[in-house]
Amino acid sequence: MASSDDAPLQTLFLPFSSGALRWPEGPVAFLRARDGWPLREQAGGREVDCEQSFAPFAQPLQQAAGWTVSGQLDDVAGRGRYPLVLVLPPRQREEARALFARALALVAEGGRIVACQHNNEGARSGEGDLKQLAGLGGSLTKNHCRVFWTAPLQGQHDVDVAKRWGSLDAVRPIVGGRFLSRPGVFAWDRIDPASALLAEHLPADLAGRAADLGAGYGYLSRELLERCPKITALDLYEAEKRALDLAELNLAPPPRPVPLRFLWRDVTAGIEP
Ligand SMILES: C[S@@+](CC[C@H](N)C(=O)[O-])C[C@H]1O[C@@H](n2cnc3c(N)ncnc32)[C@H](O)[C@@H]1O
Repeated sequence: MASSDDAPLQTLFLPFSSGALRWPEGPVAFLRARDGWPLREQAGGREVDCEQSFAPFAQPLQQAAGWTVSGQLDDVAGRGRYPLVLVLPPRQREEARALFARALALVAEGGRIVACQHNNEGARSGEGDLKQLAGLGGSLTKNHCRVFWTAPLQGQHDVDVAKRWGSLDAVRPIVGGRFLSRPGVFAWDRIDPASALLAEHLPADLAGRAADLGAGYGYLSRELLERCPKITALDLYEAEKRALDLAELNLAPPPRPVPLRFLWRDVTAGIEP
């Protein structure tokens, strides 16, 4: 379970526990969902489709009975399906705006989006962004967080903004086309200088089966295969599914034809035999 002091999660549910908003009949989507007592208390036994691409947060949700959990909800099947879409937006603003645009596409006619951010993680900008996209129905501040929500949505959102923001976190070439990346993943638009330094110092005689723990979008794995010809197989471990999917693209094909495994895992829980 997420820690008991998950302030954004607690504050997200405040409008429901205080009676400012009513929990709807029907399915609820929860984007960037995290497990914890506020979710269990409010939504235990109810239909919630959770989206969480970070393995350490996805696993506790998967272990809790009753909710569906995936790295990415099906946007086509989910379009207009949910009378309530809950969002814990990420700090990276383009990624957060793209997530609001997705939330808008998922929400049913007359439904609401409810989002919450910590004040130190962009709450003010997040609230302004949701207001710009779809207008606000209300907000509350507590626990150094801000929870804000739309009025019931009846098509009054800004269609142009929704369209523009929907592609803000799209996959794109970076570093002169050497890699594909997208906003929100580690050092998303560059090669991290510390990773570059590490690559330069990789011993060329590394041999056998290798693992890249926290592979990001795949920079070090490519370097490893290019610089170390005796590596015979490589497992890429990454907790963030959005990054792992990029690594898969960036190693297709790999610099050398060796067996690769792409593993969406929390490495603190151990690695594969
Ligand atoms: C410092 S970045 C390095 C990325 C990449 N190796 C590079 O050099 O560009 C660390 C990576 O580890 C991932 N990570 C963080 N915690 C993890 C965990 N518990 N299990 C697996 N990966 C994790 C992060 O998502 C991030 O992509």
